[in-house]
Amino acid sequence: MPDSRRHDDTVTPGDAGRGAWKSKLGFILAASGSAIGLGNLVFFASNAYQFGGGAFYFPYLIALFVLGLPVMVLEFATGTMTRRSLPMALRRLVGARGEYVGWWSLSSALFITMYYITILGWALCMMVGALGGLFAPGATAPFTPFESPSEGPNATAYFFGLIVTYWPLLAVVTVWAATVWALSRGTETIERVVRVCVPLMWLFMIVLIIRGVTLPGGVDGVLFLFTPAVDGILDVSVWKGAFSQMFFSLSLGLGTMTAYASYLPKNADHVNNSLLVSFMNCGFEYLAGIAIFAMLFAFSLNPVGGTLSLSFFVIPQGIAAFPFWVKAFGFMFFLLVVLAGLTSAISLVEGMTSALVDKLRVSRAKALAMVATPGVIGSVMTALPFVVDPDLGGNGTFGLNLLDILDHWAFGYSLLTVGFLECLLLGWVLGASRLRAAINEHSKFQLGAWFDVQIKFVVPALLLTVIVLNLWTDLSNAFSGAAYGATYPLAWANWLPTVVPVVWLGGTLIVAYVFTNRPTPDEPEGVAVATKF
Ligand code: PHE
Repeated sequence: MPDSRRHDDTVTPGDAGRGAWKSKLGFILAASGSAIGLGNLVFFASNAYQFGGGAFYFPYLIALFVLGLPVMVLEFATGTMTRRSLPMALRRLVGARGEYVGWWSLSSALFITMYYITILGWALCMMVGALGGLFAPGATAPFTPFESPSEGPNATAYFFGLIVTYWPLLAVVTVWAATVWALSRGTETIERVVRVCVPLMWLFMIVLIIRGVTLPGGVDGVLFLFTPAVDGILDVSVWKGAFSQMFFSLSLGLGTMTAYASYLPKNADHVNNSLLVSFMNCGFEYLAGIAIFAMLFAFSLNPVGGTLSLSFFVIPQGIAAFPFWVKAFGFMFFLLVVLAGLTSAISLVEGMTSALVDKLRVSRAKALAMVATPGVIGSVMTALPFVVDPDLGGNGTFGLNLLDILDHWAFGYSLLTVGFLECLLLGWVLGASRLRAAINEHSKFQLGAWFDVQIKFVVPALLLTVIVLNLWTDLSNAFSGAAYGATYPLAWANWLPTVVPVVWLGGTLIVAYVFTNRPTPDEPEGVAVATKF
């Protein structure tokens, strides 16, 4: 394989052995595999449903062009220009402040990875359960894979039966093991995994969509998803939801896209890559939406409850009503969730791993161990089966409560805040026009001056508005005594809604401080390097 870096005159000591994608296809598969994940299958449909179907897709499409695409171009360019993952990439471009933002982003990514993998672990259990008791009549607690209880199928009971057992712990450890294996040889093993998983995901999605829209009444669901609703478009919360969902879905703000782009040759076309990855992601998302809404309408299902309910309870219920091949379709649906989630988890962990390799100059194995050790502990904690509320208030178990609160804070603030800071630093400190000139050098589609306006003003203003609105809601709840989270019969569990955000915010700020202040031997210093591209 020719190494495109050999001929480059800006090679620095830390570049050696970082790895490189074998081909552009490898990169596109990996980046789209990162983008397509639980966000597309689990969260998009429930957001779209919650915000009224047709009311959601219009703001979502706007969010793609106004926010998603420019930030993706920015994150790709940052990685390729510096051949570094987010913290060191930002350090080279804008100095130590940038590195601080990078580590803060990655330490938040660690928290998000913890529960992301737990949800994947549950999906893995449901996948195994699909062959066993999930679609058997009367699937209820306790969870016993391959055993058939006696009454009508009930995925909700099955899921709550599942999470009060220790099986999910085994599942999360399995998912972590698979993730670590996939990263063991960097780009080489990642490429091997995505070459199999990503095409399979598309295939399963196509099968599901055909099944969905050919169900009697299925087309009504598709119409619901695509009929514009004017009231919703005027609702601020719909826009807030669309912006957050877009960031998460495109894997922005958590250092993953920068890490993946750092393995590209210097002449990569970032505009073209961003268009490809984001259109594949949003295309997949709409296809998933069509399949899921077709099923909802065909079987008159009503998704009530949290975000997980749609894919974990309602879809299996729909599949159980299929006239044939119920187990096969159920298995395939959860296998699809597992594959999509796995390729995203791999990218999340790679963002952190490569950052540690870049900063500490440690081996990949050591960096992986540094990420996976706290990661597995966190995933196990969010999968813990202890019941804190037998009435399922706040979802019942310790693990699910922890997950819910962590998701609210880590997910609710980190991605958008990082996006906001990236735009400020790159747009103002480095200079949007300078960055644009560097991107345009290798891009067929030339970005105009509008790109500068977008990066310097539009994107930060929109993101800041969403962050402030979210903060306003959370703070006014906190001051009125209603902290985020449920009230549990067990007194100690009531500390969770306070302890979790403090641990997350305190922990991430400390990690960012410690890493930023640690010198990296032979790394060229900060802003000066930026003049070279
Ligand atoms: N985009 C992924 C999804 O839709 C989640 C993700 C976010 C992955 C950020 C990596 C980084 O599920």
